[in-house]
Amino acid sequence: MGIQENIGHSVAERAKFREMKEGTKEDWALIAGEYRAFAKGLPDRVLDHLKLLDGDFGGFPVCRLEHSLQTATRAHRDGRGEQYVVMALLHDIGDTLGSYNHPEVAASIIKPFVTEEIHWICQNHGAFQGYYYFHFLGMDQNARDQFKDNPHYEACRQFCEKYDQAAFDPDYDSEPLEFFEPMVRRVMERPLVSAYAKALDE
Ligand SMILES: [Fe+2]
Ligand SMILES: [Fe+2]
Repeated sequence: MGIQENIGHSVAERAKFREMKEGTKEDWALIAGEYRAFAKGLPDRVLDHLKLLDGDFGGFPVCRLEHSLQTATRAHRDGRGEQYVVMALLHDIGDTLGSYNHPEVAASIIKPFVTEEIHWICQNHGAFQGYYYFHFLGMDQNARDQFKDNPHYEACRQFCEKYDQAAFDPDYDSEPLEFFEPMVRRVMERPLVSAYAKALDE
Protein backbone atom coordinates (compact mmCIF):
# COMPACT_ATOMS: atom_id res chain seq x y z
CA MET A 1 0.00 0.00 0.00
CA GLY A 2 1.40 3.40 -1.03
CA ILE A 3 1.65 6.35 1.34
CA GLN A 4 -1.09 8.33 -0.41
CA GLU A 5 -3.42 5.37 -0.43
CA ASN A 6 -2.68 4.74 3.24
CA ILE A 7 -3.46 8.34 4.20
CA GLY A 8 -6.65 8.32 2.13
CA HIS A 9 -7.78 5.11 3.80
CA SER A 10 -7.03 6.43 7.27
CA VAL A 11 -8.88 9.73 6.72
CA ALA A 12 -11.91 7.91 5.34
CA GLU A 13 -11.99 5.59 8.33
CA ARG A 14 -11.79 8.13 11.11
CA ALA A 15 -14.45 9.84 13.17
CA LYS A 16 -15.02 13.52 12.40
CA PHE A 17 -15.07 15.03 15.89
CA ARG A 18 -12.33 17.09 17.48
CA GLU A 19 -14.00 16.91 20.88
CA MET A 20 -16.15 14.00 21.97
CA LYS A 21 -19.05 16.37 22.55
CA GLU A 22 -19.22 16.82 18.76
CA GLY A 23 -19.57 13.05 18.20
CA THR A 24 -22.32 11.57 16.03
CA LYS A 25 -23.99 8.19 15.70
CA GLU A 26 -22.00 7.64 12.49
CA ASP A 27 -18.72 8.41 14.26
CA TRP A 28 -19.50 5.86 16.92
CA ALA A 29 -20.69 3.20 14.49
CA LEU A 30 -17.29 3.52 12.83
CA ILE A 31 -15.41 3.39 16.13
CA ALA A 32 -17.49 0.44 17.39
CA GLY A 33 -16.62 -1.49 14.23
CA GLU A 34 -12.93 -0.80 14.77
CA TYR A 35 -13.27 -1.79 18.43
CA ARG A 36 -14.83 -5.15 17.57
CA ALA A 37 -11.93 -5.98 15.27
CA PHE A 38 -9.37 -4.73 17.79
CA ALA A 39 -10.92 -6.67 20.68
CA LYS A 40 -10.66 -9.90 18.70
CA GLY A 41 -6.90 -9.41 18.65
CA LEU A 42 -6.59 -9.37 22.44
CA PRO A 43 -5.36 -12.98 22.76
CA ASP A 44 -2.60 -12.26 20.23
CA ARG A 45 -1.49 -9.11 22.05
CA VAL A 46 -1.49 -10.92 25.40
CA LEU A 47 0.49 -13.86 24.03
CA ASP A 48 2.98 -11.49 22.38
CA HIS A 49 3.44 -9.64 25.66
CA LEU A 50 3.89 -12.89 27.59
CA LYS A 51 6.82 -13.71 25.30
CA LEU A 52 8.64 -10.66 26.70
CA LEU A 53 9.24 -12.78 29.82
CA ASP A 54 11.35 -15.22 27.79
CA GLY A 55 14.96 -15.20 28.97
CA ASP A 56 14.17 -12.83 31.84
CA PHE A 57 15.63 -14.65 34.87
CA GLY A 58 15.96 -11.91 37.47
CA GLY A 59 18.21 -14.27 39.46
CA PHE A 60 15.61 -17.07 39.56
CA PRO A 61 16.50 -20.66 38.53
CA VAL A 62 14.17 -20.42 35.52
CA CYS A 63 13.16 -17.46 33.35
CA ARG A 64 9.81 -15.78 33.89
CA LEU A 65 8.28 -17.37 30.78
CA GLU A 66 9.33 -20.87 31.89
CA HIS A 67 7.94 -20.11 35.36
CA SER A 68 4.64 -19.09 33.75
CA LEU A 69 4.50 -22.19 31.55
CA GLN A 70 5.42 -24.40 34.49
CA THR A 71 2.78 -22.86 36.75
CA ALA A 72 0.14 -23.37 34.04
CA THR A 73 1.31 -26.89 33.23
CA ARG A 74 1.20 -27.93 36.88
CA ALA A 75 -2.33 -26.52 37.23
CA HIS A 76 -3.46 -28.22 34.01
CA ARG A 77 -2.00 -31.60 35.00
CA ASP A 78 -3.72 -31.27 38.36
CA GLY A 79 -7.06 -31.09 36.57
CA ARG A 80 -7.79 -27.37 36.78
CA GLY A 81 -10.19 -25.85 34.23
CA GLU A 82 -9.27 -23.55 31.38
CA GLN A 83 -10.00 -20.25 33.14
CA TYR A 84 -7.75 -21.32 35.99
CA VAL A 85 -4.98 -22.56 33.71
CA VAL A 86 -5.03 -19.34 31.68
CA MET A 87 -4.84 -17.36 34.92
CA ALA A 88 -1.86 -19.51 35.96
CA LEU A 89 -0.21 -18.85 32.60
CA LEU A 90 -0.70 -15.09 32.81
CA HIS A 91 -0.35 -14.49 36.57
CA ASP A 92 3.08 -12.84 36.27
CA ILE A 93 2.59 -11.11 32.89
CA GLY A 94 2.60 -7.78 34.76
CA ASP A 95 6.25 -8.15 35.77
CA THR A 96 7.27 -5.97 32.83
CA LEU A 97 4.97 -2.97 33.34
CA GLY A 98 3.89 -3.45 36.96
CA SER A 99 7.23 -4.09 38.60
CA TYR A 100 5.86 -2.94 41.98
CA ASN A 101 2.35 -4.41 41.72
CA HIS A 102 2.50 -7.13 39.06
CA PRO A 103 -0.44 -9.26 40.33
CA GLU A 104 -2.88 -6.41 39.67
CA VAL A 105 -1.81 -6.12 36.03
CA ALA A 106 -2.58 -9.76 35.26
CA ALA A 107 -5.76 -9.61 37.33
CA SER A 108 -7.03 -6.65 35.31
CA ILE A 109 -6.32 -8.40 32.01
CA ILE A 110 -8.17 -11.59 32.92
CA LYS A 111 -10.99 -10.01 34.95
CA PRO A 112 -13.64 -9.96 32.17
CA PHE A 113 -13.08 -13.63 31.36
CA VAL A 114 -12.87 -15.54 34.66
CA THR A 115 -14.82 -16.21 37.84
CA GLU A 116 -14.54 -13.86 40.77
CA GLU A 117 -12.47 -16.42 42.69
CA ILE A 118 -9.95 -16.94 39.88
CA HIS A 119 -9.62 -13.18 39.52
CA TRP A 120 -9.10 -12.86 43.29
CA ILE A 121 -6.40 -15.51 43.30
CA CYS A 122 -4.54 -13.66 40.57
CA GLN A 123 -4.94 -10.25 42.18
CA ASN A 124 -3.72 -11.37 45.60
CA HIS A 125 -1.18 -14.09 44.83
CA GLY A 126 1.70 -11.76 45.71
CA ALA A 127 0.96 -11.74 49.44
CA PHE A 128 0.41 -15.52 49.47
CA GLN A 129 3.56 -16.21 47.48
CA GLY A 130 5.40 -14.06 50.03
CA TYR A 131 4.86 -16.82 52.60
CA TYR A 132 7.75 -18.62 50.91
CA TYR A 133 10.27 -15.77 50.88
CA PHE A 134 9.21 -12.50 52.54
CA HIS A 135 11.04 -13.47 55.77
CA PHE A 136 14.32 -13.69 53.86
CA LEU A 137 13.93 -10.04 52.88
CA GLY A 138 12.97 -8.64 56.26
CA MET A 139 9.28 -8.61 55.37
CA ASP A 140 6.30 -10.23 57.05
CA GLN A 141 6.10 -13.88 56.03
CA ASN A 142 2.49 -13.97 57.16
CA ALA A 143 1.29 -11.00 55.12
CA ARG A 144 -1.34 -13.35 53.68
CA ASP A 145 -2.99 -13.51 57.11
CA GLN A 146 -4.69 -10.18 56.36
CA PHE A 147 -6.98 -12.26 54.13
CA LYS A 148 -7.61 -15.14 56.54
CA ASP A 149 -11.33 -14.44 56.74
CA ASN A 150 -11.75 -14.06 52.99
CA PRO A 151 -13.70 -16.89 51.28
CA HIS A 152 -10.93 -17.17 48.65
CA TYR A 153 -8.05 -17.49 51.11
CA GLU A 154 -7.74 -21.27 50.82
CA ALA A 155 -8.00 -21.21 47.01
CA CYS A 156 -5.20 -18.65 46.78
CA ARG A 157 -3.08 -20.52 49.33
CA GLN A 158 -3.45 -23.66 47.20
CA PHE A 159 -2.54 -21.84 43.98
CA CYS A 160 0.74 -20.70 45.49
CA GLU A 161 1.51 -23.93 47.36
CA LYS A 162 0.73 -26.35 44.53
CA TYR A 163 1.66 -24.39 41.42
CA ASP A 164 3.27 -20.95 41.78
CA GLN A 165 5.95 -21.54 44.43
CA ALA A 166 6.58 -25.00 42.91
CA ALA A 167 7.26 -23.72 39.40
CA PHE A 168 10.99 -23.00 39.49
CA ASP A 169 12.32 -26.42 38.48
CA PRO A 170 14.64 -26.22 35.45
CA ASP A 171 14.13 -29.97 34.85
CA TYR A 172 10.34 -29.94 34.78
CA ASP A 173 8.79 -30.86 31.39
CA SER A 174 6.52 -27.85 30.96
CA GLU A 175 4.18 -27.68 28.01
CA PRO A 176 5.22 -25.09 25.39
CA LEU A 177 3.33 -21.83 24.92
CA GLU A 178 1.64 -23.25 21.79
CA PHE A 179 -0.08 -25.83 24.00
CA PHE A 180 -1.87 -23.07 25.90
CA GLU A 181 -2.66 -20.76 22.97
CA PRO A 182 -6.04 -22.37 22.10
CA MET A 183 -7.05 -22.09 25.77
CA VAL A 184 -6.13 -18.41 25.88
CA ARG A 185 -8.16 -17.81 22.70
CA ARG A 186 -11.19 -19.69 24.05
CA VAL A 187 -11.14 -18.02 27.46
CA MET A 188 -10.64 -14.54 25.97
CA GLU A 189 -13.13 -14.97 23.15
CA ARG A 190 -15.84 -13.02 24.92
CA PRO A 191 -16.16 -11.19 28.26
CA LEU A 192 -18.40 -12.94 30.79
CA VAL A 193 -19.66 -9.65 32.15
CA SER A 194 -18.54 -6.31 30.83
CA ALA A 195 -20.04 -2.96 30.06
CA TYR A 196 -18.40 -3.35 26.67
CA ALA A 197 -19.72 -6.85 25.93
CA LYS A 198 -22.85 -5.39 24.35
CA ALA A 199 -20.71 -3.36 21.96
CA LEU A 200 -19.22 -6.60 20.67
CA ASP A 201 -22.62 -7.75 19.41
CA GLU A 202 -22.85 -7.10 15.72
FE1 LIG B 1 3.70 -13.31 40.90
FE1 LIG C 1 4.64 -16.66 39.83
